[in-house]
Amino acid sequence: MSKMSKKITNKVTWVGKVDWELKTFHGDEYSTMKGSSYNSYLIRDKKNVLIDTVWTPFDKEFVKNLKEEIDLKDIDYIICNHSEVDHSGAFVELMREIPDTPIYCTANGAKIMKGHYHKDWNFVTVKTGETLDIGESKLVFVEAPMLHWPDSMMTYMTGENILFSNDAFGQHYATESLYNDAVDNCELFEEAIKYYANILTPYSKLVIKKIHEVLSFNLPVDLICTSHGVIWKDNPAQIIEKYLEWADNYQENQITIIYDTMWNSTRTMAEAIAAGIQEVDSQVRVKLINAAKEDKNDIITEIFKSKGIVVGSPTVNNRYLHSLGGLLEMVKGLRFQDKYAATFGSYGWGGEAVKLLNADLEEAGFKLVDEGIKNMWVPDKDAIETCKEFGKKLAVEFKPNK
Ligand code: FEO
Repeated sequence: MSKMSKKITNKVTWVGKVDWELKTFHGDEYSTMKGSSYNSYLIRDKKNVLIDTVWTPFDKEFVKNLKEEIDLKDIDYIICNHSEVDHSGAFVELMREIPDTPIYCTANGAKIMKGHYHKDWNFVTVKTGETLDIGESKLVFVEAPMLHWPDSMMTYMTGENILFSNDAFGQHYATESLYNDAVDNCELFEEAIKYYANILTPYSKLVIKKIHEVLSFNLPVDLICTSHGVIWKDNPAQIIEKYLEWADNYQENQITIIYDTMWNSTRTMAEAIAAGIQEVDSQVRVKLINAAKEDKNDIITEIFKSKGIVVGSPTVNNRYLHSLGGLLEMVKGLRFQDKYAATFGSYGWGGEAVKLLNADLEEAGFKLVDEGIKNMWVPDKDAIETCKEFGKKLAVEFKPNK
């Protein structure tokens, strides 16, 4: 019977799970239209080491496959780089068989594992710079708190020059090919930036600090073995450089108009604003997105790429529409920096939506350039002209941050 594992180097074997069917992650918080993988690795040196496991629904399959690769009793150490269930979910099944095997993790990792599984396993807590001798190679631990959980950690393997980075540099991207040079690179980078935008944006200052700290160790890196998606083998530095770029208040020459609409009046306004922007600046990329029809995480990625956003909604029951409500809650949590915003919307009476959108965008840290425009009922020729003029103004006032 052929094994499900994949050999990476003479000493390291991939023993994870590729999940082609996964369409949502973190409950429904993150869309994974291209699936994902839970990468786990087995190191064979004088000592045998397992790095991370897989998500709970695959726990039995994981342990069964692992047994085909190694007698579980021959595993000397387990490294738990991160205790979120997509990587620790198979521990219960695994530790049932080898309950005394030491689990190396951060102090926060041990707390979270106990909080999740309520088991008193043999945790050995480690700090940045501490090492574990496994024979010819050593494992060097690097804590990475809040990238993206308090317990997050990376493990570096000397000799093989592998950084086991866990979530960092990963993507929700199912592939059987395993390496970055063997997959469609447009898809790969779309998923990598989506992952950064939706998960790591609030921690960007820490990302820059941590990358510089790791680079200061001057450790050669031949492979970055992530816990989701591809292994960075061809020029692994490229994803580190991308992270430094994305973490530095990233933006492209893009303005995204995000709206919802009931009878198309607000959509008509959105299109006129877009026309006004393009009239002044034909180089800026303008995208229109109906928030009720597009994937929320893709919208977040477009906001991440934008120097400014224009948000529009009609007024219903004195509020703005719910598709924007959910989205703006996500936006507030992500704490985007250095981005402009403006608002618009149609109304029949009241017209509170624009004011409420302004308040929420301000709370989210956007720089509002105007009090916004409202139009009563269906926009006529003059109203469309007003929207165009508004767009022209935004084209000038949404300046690039670099
Ligand atoms: Fe892939 Fe934070 O778990």
